[in-house]
Amino acid sequence: MNGEFAGLVAVVTGGGSGIGLAAARLLADRGAAVACLDLDPSGVPDPLLGVECDVTDAGSVTQAVTLAADRLGALDVLVNNAGIGAQGSVEANSDDEWHRVLDVNVVGIVRVTRAALPYLRASSCAAIVNTCSIAATAGLPNRALYSATKGAVQSLTLAMAADHVGEGIRVNCVNPGTVDTPWVRRLLDSAGDPAAELTALRARQPIGRLVSAAEVATAIAYLASPLAASTTGTVLAVDGGMHGL
Ligand code: NAI
Repeated sequence: MNGEFAGLVAVVTGGGSGIGLAAARLLADRGAAVACLDLDPSGVPDPLLGVECDVTDAGSVTQAVTLAADRLGALDVLVNNAGIGAQGSVEANSDDEWHRVLDVNVVGIVRVTRAALPYLRASSCAAIVNTCSIAATAGLPNRALYSATKGAVQSLTLAMAADHVGEGIRVNCVNPGTVDTPWVRRLLDSAGDPAAELTALRARQPIGRLVSAAEVATAIAYLASPLAASTTGTVLAVDGGMHGL
């Protein structure tokens, strides 16, 4: 197989849908053997390996990462992408909801990374890419809980990069704007006026449209690839100019 991931193995969490599935497909197209770890891996197509996994359950995570590495023979690239949303100001969500979303979006990354590190240490080109969000830095209204989790993901990315650079493991994150995925389609379906909501989401991004999952996947693949061998501890925005302009 040709491509910059030839001979490498990747694990993508949340790989059953949206950005994760797009990243998994692209890594496979470029030569990687890829496992998609997801609560629901039923939509994962061949030749990707779908593995059921709940990132909030340490036992499930250990089992899934071990299964993927055993079946595919190694683990060189980890894409920590599984995540869930939350809407509202600080008054909107209960303590239980705060714990739940933090557990998936932040501690989920910690659990999967812990399970993957022994394999990554054995790789000669190990890389971790975390899917963060422009919500980490943009100050979005009605996204207090979600933004707090993604702020934590960005800080965690930098801390992990510092901790593991000496072991040859690179750690970076992507910060997407609003991306056209099943998640955003669900959000639109639940809006009072879906067409008006879509117009507002497009207008929020200076490029005037939603970002595509394929565009985020391309950024993830770059950061994960040996082409980015000198890049660690960076945040790559794929946000249609939302934060920078
Ligand atoms: P999606 O809902 O299409 O896909 C997310 C996947 O994660 C689903 O397949 C779901 O089953 C899985 N998942 C959820 N909880 C899980 C758990 N506990 N264990 C294992 N898998 C779990 O969403 P999308 O849009 O592809 O989002 C992926 C990532 O991108 C998330 O981290 C999200 O925060 C981030 N993101 C999305 C943006 C967007 O506009 N769609 C913008 C910025 C960041």
